[in-house]
Amino acid sequence: MSQALKTSFFLHGGDYNPDQWLEYPEILEKDVELMRRAHVNCVSVGIFAWAALEPEEGKYDFAWLDRVIDRLWKAGIHVDLATPSGARPAWMAQKYPEVLRVREDFTRNHFGTRHNHCPSSPVYREKVRAIDSALAERYGHHPAVLLWHISNEFGGDCRCELCAKRFREFLREKYGSLAELNRSWWTAFWSMRYTDWEQIEPPSTRGQSASPAMWVDWRRFSTKQCRDFIRMEKEAVQKWNPELPVTTNLMHRFGDYDYFSLAEEIDVVSWDSYPAWGSGDDLQVACDHAMEHDLMRSLKRQPFLLMESTPSMVNWHTVNKPKRPGMHLLSSMLPVALGSDSVMYFQWRKGRGGAEMFHGAVVGHDGTGETRTFREVTQVGEALEKLTQLLHSERRAEVCVLYDWQNRWALDYAQMGRRGDQKYLETVNAHYRALWTQGIAVDFCDMREVTDLSSYRLVVAPMLFMLRGGIEEKLRAFAEGGGCLVATYLTGVIGENGLAWLGETPHALTDVLGVRVLEMDTLYDQDACSLVTRDGEERVGPVCEVIDAPDADVIGTYGPEQFYAGTPCLTRHAFGHGKAFYMAARMGQEGLDRFYRKLAEELRLKKALPGRLPEGVVAQERAGWVFLMNFSGAEQRCRLDGRWTDALSGETVSAEALLPVNGVMVLRK
Ligand code: GLA
Ligand code: ZN
Repeated sequence: MSQALKTSFFLHGGDYNPDQWLEYPEILEKDVELMRRAHVNCVSVGIFAWAALEPEEGKYDFAWLDRVIDRLWKAGIHVDLATPSGARPAWMAQKYPEVLRVREDFTRNHFGTRHNHCPSSPVYREKVRAIDSALAERYGHHPAVLLWHISNEFGGDCRCELCAKRFREFLREKYGSLAELNRSWWTAFWSMRYTDWEQIEPPSTRGQSASPAMWVDWRRFSTKQCRDFIRMEKEAVQKWNPELPVTTNLMHRFGDYDYFSLAEEIDVVSWDSYPAWGSGDDLQVACDHAMEHDLMRSLKRQPFLLMESTPSMVNWHTVNKPKRPGMHLLSSMLPVALGSDSVMYFQWRKGRGGAEMFHGAVVGHDGTGETRTFREVTQVGEALEKLTQLLHSERRAEVCVLYDWQNRWALDYAQMGRRGDQKYLETVNAHYRALWTQGIAVDFCDMREVTDLSSYRLVVAPMLFMLRGGIEEKLRAFAEGGGCLVATYLTGVIGENGLAWLGETPHALTDVLGVRVLEMDTLYDQDACSLVTRDGEERVGPVCEVIDAPDADVIGTYGPEQFYAGTPCLTRHAFGHGKAFYMAARMGQEGLDRFYRKLAEELRLKKALPGRLPEGVVAQERAGWVFLMNFSGAEQRCRLDGRWTDALSGETVSAEALLPVNGVMVLRK
């Protein structure tokens, strides 16, 4: 059963590592005082604390954690309690090397860093289960503890013998017979036919590396492995208190696992967002992370938690630039606007040493609350207290963008076009951007059976290369029933198991879209290709399909540069009660912006604010509250209809809102 987080406040706080400061009792005391000053109400404790919790095999030391949690709770600060499986003690790696991961070249890692475990190792599982269970027995009913933070940023995979064995079991269950597997993986190619299950090894740089279908199955298997591991940890902690929800922190643009699938295993979605503010175009930086916030909200169709963000800068970008004044509040309101019920940081206090000693933190090496960062963090804490009514509220969207991890893998592993550079995520983001900048709310869906498109008015399906889960039927029914569908080049090329559809493409959708693909062209950077519409001419590519569109209305044709000059490039087709657009070539941002502006007008899509805002200013609505955010890097004036109150400043705004650089308002009518 899924447990929701039932707080009456936005979580504000972050990763707290008292285990690094056990020799500094005065600092641990001071932490709590500073947390209260910063309006911190929840901290994530123990994420990498295994060595402190189990200094010797089987000998737990909880005394320090007892003191930490009690001290926090006395000050009214809650705890997001972590299981320590993200990093293991040296004694364990030394005694049981099988807990360490085997790499793509089949060599085993040595002890060090973190996120380095084999998910199949019975020893590792046993050790994790034991410590999780001990933690849960001790703290599972502590009034301070709100949530379990399972491990940390799960990622990667292992190729040890145990994992290889599980991979074979996974394939056996999936395909039933070797004949079926051989058929799906098309192993007649290069004489790769398997005659014994034992011949199958994980894909590797030293072995099988050239089977796209196998790679996609490997990623599915890795997802399953991770789900399995999470389930094991979840069972261990919830055995002691089934009411306490679990989360695990997810990552930006992460590709190793299918997050829609992973999210089924946890109660609350949380993730870590580290935008590179000030690196160039802040609007694009914001849009990139906004998409991810909306995606995280969409994973379970419920509010999510921003588990980590930096209060100032990170230490792992190429350039680690601190946030400029105002950016901390602005960048913290962005996730809240899009459905977050928290603003949490990495990290509360900078360590004295270690790889992250120079990563931004609420409290720096000076140890005081007298810094700009500390003041801006406090401001966010205060702001969140003014938004309490928004807590747990959902966002309603009329638009759904299809984004599917399995489709992403299929594109990544397909050897074609601009190989290794299909730009699926960038393309999804470009379509999203054209909607998001207009103030339109967007949900994401993947192609699982549970996906239901019927509540949407617009469905955008960029590069739907793989069709699975019966999505083609859903898209057909959606358009037939009056919905508006936007599809692009590279739609309906392969099926779930990687085999190309035979016959016309876009498979099963040619009549819906009113087009048929004749050829796919890929261009070099120096090649020109353009799209000509009534609005003018714009550059397209490098992917350009040559299509036949006998039944569709041609809205745009190819310019004169290539051999398919004058043929259809952008089409519109009436289907049933609805319509379907097809973009045969990759369009640039300006073209997409223009396209979706017109479409939004035609469909009268709901926007956070009517009219057009200055470039770089975005409005997004959550439950009737409008977040007006200035990412333009300059002061901006926005025209408003009616009288509004800015929940952050308490001031009334009418006719015009003046937004300073990095300004943000949360407006209520
Ligand atoms: C990740 C990790 C944290 C920390 C931060 C630094 O999100 O989960 O432990 O390393 O990055 O930005
Ligand atoms: Zn393994």
